[in-house]
Amino acid sequence: MNNNYNSLKLVIFGAGRWGKNHIKTAASLLPNENITVVDLNPSTGELVNSISDKIDFTSNFEHSALDFNIAIVATPAETHYQLAKDLLNSGKHVLVEKPITLRADEAGELEELSIKKNLKLMVGHVLLYHPAIIEMKKKIQNGLIGDLQYIYSNRLNLGAIRSEENSLWSFAPHDISIIQSIVNDNPTSIHAHGGDFIQNGIEDTTLTFLTYPNNIKAHIFVSWLHPFKEQRLVVIGDKGMIVFEDSLKTNKLKFYKKGFEVKNGTVEKFDSEFEVVDFNSDKQPLSEEHRHFYDSVLNDTQPLTDGKHAAEVLKILEEATKSLKN
Ligand SMILES: NC(=O)c1ccc[n+]([C@@H]2O[C@H](COP(=O)([O-])OP(=O)(O)OC[C@H]3O[C@@H](n4cnc5c(N)ncnc54)[C@H](O)[C@@H]3O)[C@@H](O)[C@H]2O)c1
Repeated sequence: MNNNYNSLKLVIFGAGRWGKNHIKTAASLLPNENITVVDLNPSTGELVNSISDKIDFTSNFEHSALDFNIAIVATPAETHYQLAKDLLNSGKHVLVEKPITLRADEAGELEELSIKKNLKLMVGHVLLYHPAIIEMKKKIQNGLIGDLQYIYSNRLNLGAIRSEENSLWSFAPHDISIIQSIVNDNPTSIHAHGGDFIQNGIEDTTLTFLTYPNNIKAHIFVSWLHPFKEQRLVVIGDKGMIVFEDSLKTNKLKFYKKGFEVKNGTVEKFDSEFEVVDFNSDKQPLSEEHRHFYDSVLNDTQPLTDGKHAAEVLKILEEATKSLKN
């Protein structure tokens, strides 16, 4: 496997709240003189310089003026489609922040363009690179909790309110991407409810119900209007349950051997103490995401969170939005 990152020349678009994490992560993995940051706001140049004075910064981007082969788009969601399309058309591999675009058909178009151009297109569903989620998926695939029955995800906080998107579009891409990758199928029905309390028409709180084949059900509860932070994913199977609580400092991943079984025609409960599940907590999800992107470019492998996965997540967001607005 080629993991010589010296040949990668990266441009990062957007040095805002999340973009700065991409800049720090790239600076820890690539030769810093191979990185350029583009942000329309010239004052973000100071931040870039404080991360590394070897990283170039410009607020005036010209495709032809820069020599680069990979790009990361961490600008506001409404700019993703056009930026990613221009980058693919000029022959660059692209990692785009979530949501990849604001419409599923645009995501599908980017996916097709990347295939036609033989370029990597990846979306920043960072939790799929979290070592706890990777361990959780491994345990589920190995049959630890038996057949899947119910999954729910709470992503709640008194958090950053956005005016260009509601809490569903801001938070739920993560939860949808995780649930999709656990179930490995597409939902057959999607219903959502929500409430707008702070800004008219922008839901602060949404609850989305998903039905999958094989009687698998899920719900996602997201809110930026909540008294405390909770990031909890619960996966229930017929032989046990597994819980990932990212908002905890320790013991984030737990297995519960709990449930019901039918014995001699009667339903019996089985119930025992939880076991903490170990995972490699030294690995940072965003660093893993960057490595995955760089490795897929260098070794011509398909990214886990590719354009197809991104378009599926977008379709679910669109269906949930339709349901919400009805
Ligand atoms: N993966 C995650 O966990 C995660 C977390 C937070 C945000 N995000 C996503 O990251 C993206 C950025 O979010 P943010 O919170 O950093 O936003 P932000 O508003 O803090 O920053 C966006 C930056 O992009 C710049 N910008 C706007 N248009 C540009 C353009 N055309 N070219 C270059 N720069 C441009 C702005 O000047 C600003 O500095 C969003 O899509 C958001 O959903 C992802």
